[in-house]
Amino acid sequence: MVGYLEDRRLSTPSHDLIAFGASSFVGKILCRYLWEEFGAQGELKWAAGGRSKAKLEELCNSLGANAGTLPLVVADAADEASLRELRASTRVVVSTVGPYALHGEPLVKACAESGTDYCNLSGEAHWIRRMMQRYETTARKSGARIVPCCGFDSIPSDLGVHFLQREAMKRLGAPCMRVKMRVKVMRGGFSGGTVASLMNVVKEAAADPVLRKELGDPYALCPAGSVSKVPQPEVRWAEFDSDFGAWIAPFVMSAINTRVVQRTNALAKRAYGADFTYDEAMLMGRGLKGRFAATAAAAGLAGFMLAAAIGPARAALERFVLPKPGEGPSPEAQRRGCFDLRLLGTTTDGRRIRTKVTGDRDPGYGSTAKMLGQAAACLALDIDKAVTPGGFWTPATIFGDRLIQRLTAHSGLTFERVPDLPN
Ligand SMILES: NC(=O)c1ccc[n+]([C@@H]2O[C@H](COP(=O)([O-])OP(=O)(O)OC[C@H]3O[C@@H](n4cnc5c(N)ncnc54)[C@H](OP(=O)(O)O)[C@@H]3O)[C@@H](O)[C@H]2O)c1
Repeated sequence: MVGYLEDRRLSTPSHDLIAFGASSFVGKILCRYLWEEFGAQGELKWAAGGRSKAKLEELCNSLGANAGTLPLVVADAADEASLRELRASTRVVVSTVGPYALHGEPLVKACAESGTDYCNLSGEAHWIRRMMQRYETTARKSGARIVPCCGFDSIPSDLGVHFLQREAMKRLGAPCMRVKMRVKVMRGGFSGGTVASLMNVVKEAAADPVLRKELGDPYALCPAGSVSKVPQPEVRWAEFDSDFGAWIAPFVMSAINTRVVQRTNALAKRAYGADFTYDEAMLMGRGLKGRFAATAAAAGLAGFMLAAAIGPARAALERFVLPKPGEGPSPEAQRRGCFDLRLLGTTTDGRRIRTKVTGDRDPGYGSTAKMLGQAAACLALDIDKAVTPGGFWTPATIFGDRLIQRLTAHSGLTFERVPDLPN
């Protein structure tokens, strides 16, 4: 048995939240999490949405007993009329319909025009920038709060720096002008949707020099004139990091995370400092073994990016190597996954503070679904429209400590200060 909301032309939204893209790989995990955490008609009245009624029914049945009480909403991301109906039936939409650069714009437009709050998992910086250019003014007028990057990119980085700066203010009385984030452990896999998003960015960038320049700008997501644009450090190859006593290699997600953290600083009126610098990298170990691992990781990433930029090589990767849309890590791999991120902050006068952010489950799926679910719940239940105006936000600027509380209480994340030792 399935509950349908057939007539969605309602003046008062009947849902707090619609999880749109419920049949996607990550959407299914999100829906299971929301179902187990909130039920359907409790504190958070939510519905599952997607373009296929049959797939939504299948998802509903997979959730088990009583899942028939979960309302289902059918809408197509390419059909503006159905999106208008969807947004009229809810206060918040959380979308996992990606790649966002291919399917995301009509829903952002619909939400920005109507004042419906929206969050997603986009890590596609160029698309986020484009959406801000086109819809920020509209969202400000309508009161729609739009929050991209509510998954592993970029919640642990953005809230991790927010937490470190809060601790620095409390213990050192000053923010840290220099922050490094180093990935100590990251155990997990990739889904077809993530791969499709990455491949699409590389494909677009390969054909467009202006876009390549935009993607290379660490301040690409900052409002014009809001920051002083000091040069930002970037780990592009294997190097030794004496602060962590280890070899480091480039971290693929730094391309979005660093932009989000810089936007947070810009929106927070440079609370981290006018000359704030931030970078991310992977810790690869000590000695010769660490050096070899860092060099191999850097070469592997560079080779992959090069292959992805060349049409025939990209097609071969997509056809024979990478997961297809709808595929991703097994439930067992999701359960076994985890992450451990280390942050080091230094004030202008050289005082230091170290923190860590950890999560259970694999970062991109098991943990991302919990982060996204709590971000969406936070938007629906905690962030008052009367206090927080419309516009494009980052996780740290709109949710801050409230989301840290939710994630530590309900999503298996920890945010802690650690002793000032190498790692
Ligand atoms: N930031 C992070 O940490 C993070 C982590 C994981 C994933 N992601 C991102 O999340 C997105 C989803 O990833 P995934 O692996 O779950 O993708 P996926 O399994 O390939 O799913 C894509 C979904 O989009 C839906 N869709 C496509 N066109 C549509 C349309 N016109 N109308 C409505 N729905 C449409 C598909 O619907 P059907 O089921 O009906 O085909 C499918 O459910 C990707 O952009 C990925 O990059 C980000």
